[in-house]
Amino acid sequence: MGRKKIAIIGGGQIGGVLTLIAAQKELGDLVVIEIKEKEGFAKGKAIDIMQMTPHDGFDVKIDATSDWSAIKGSDVVIVTAGVPRKPGMTRDDLLGVNLKIIQNVVDAVKKYCSSAFNIVLTNPLDSMVYAFYKISGFPKNRVVGMAGALDTARFRAFVAEAAGVSVQDVAATVMGGHGPTMVPLPRLCTIGGVPLDHFLSKEKVDAICNRTAEAGTEIVKLLANGSAFFSPAGSAAEMAEAYLKDKKRVLPCAALCEGEYGVQGLFIGVPVIIGAGGVEKVIEVKLNAEEKAMLAKTIEAVKKTAEETKL
Ligand SMILES: NC(=O)c1ccc[n+]([C@@H]2O[C@H](COP(=O)([O-])OP(=O)(O)OC[C@H]3O[C@@H](n4cnc5c(N)ncnc54)[C@H](O)[C@@H]3O)[C@@H](O)[C@H]2O)c1
Repeated sequence: MGRKKIAIIGGGQIGGVLTLIAAQKELGDLVVIEIKEKEGFAKGKAIDIMQMTPHDGFDVKIDATSDWSAIKGSDVVIVTAGVPRKPGMTRDDLLGVNLKIIQNVVDAVKKYCSSAFNIVLTNPLDSMVYAFYKISGFPKNRVVGMAGALDTARFRAFVAEAAGVSVQDVAATVMGGHGPTMVPLPRLCTIGGVPLDHFLSKEKVDAICNRTAEAGTEIVKLLANGSAFFSPAGSAAEMAEAYLKDKKRVLPCAALCEGEYGVQGLFIGVPVIIGAGGVEKVIEVKLNAEEKAMLAKTIEAVKKTAEETKL
């Protein structure tokens, strides 16, 4: 049995770190696709990572090219191609330019690896994964957006820091769209099985929820020339691993809802099970009235950007 193959579309900030993490986890052989003008840049990174393999002893092949035929037979496609935000921009400002890129990516995936599991990262995330699904016509279990895994990682990191506990023991979920209307759910958060309110005051928890919703913007302002890339790459690798190793991970992801949470035909951040069947199940959590109201607001925001794709 040969190694699995992963295609990483876009060899920029996220694509580069993702290549490193996926290699270190030995998820499979990796091929990075870049535009012709930046092929050398992506190849340079690939060779650099290849030369790092002896340190930790990870055995994978790493290649980068602008030749789309290199993705042939990939088991997983991770789409990081697209323009990131600059200070003052919202994710929705990226819609027009990134929609064209998604069209381009879908054409190649349909041609070379139409049975792959597809993880989309490109922003505005909820509408780009919706566009990928609509243009490709792939089944809903094989198209998913990465956002909730990142938003939840941010929430967990902030909770662990504030409570002075291991991040490993913080279990949480953040639902909704990947933007300021996202819905952190502190009521469902536990630390080693103990409810969060045992550790932190309501004021501290509220501050963490607000910081989580603005976490991407906080980093955009600090970097001044791009958006977060380490944590997004880690989150995408986590999702790919769940699929490739049939781990049945429960992760919040942008998944197609067909009736769940009262949502019809939209990709929205919800907890799902990821295993060998891709998105195997959308989990419908019982929400209280306040949480339902927040979810209704985020659904409206996601619907608006999905409509702007005119798909
Ligand atoms: N989903 C999330 O949670 C999340 C988090 C952070 C960033 N993002 C988004 O991810 C995307 C990538 O971010 P980044 O920081 O890596 O940006 P980046 O600019 O560093 O990298 C993107 C790369 O995509 C390449 N590219 C453009 N068109 C392409 C095409 N047709 N085929 C192949 N490659 C192409 C570019 O040349 C560039 O190198 C952005 O849209 C960003 O907003 C999403």
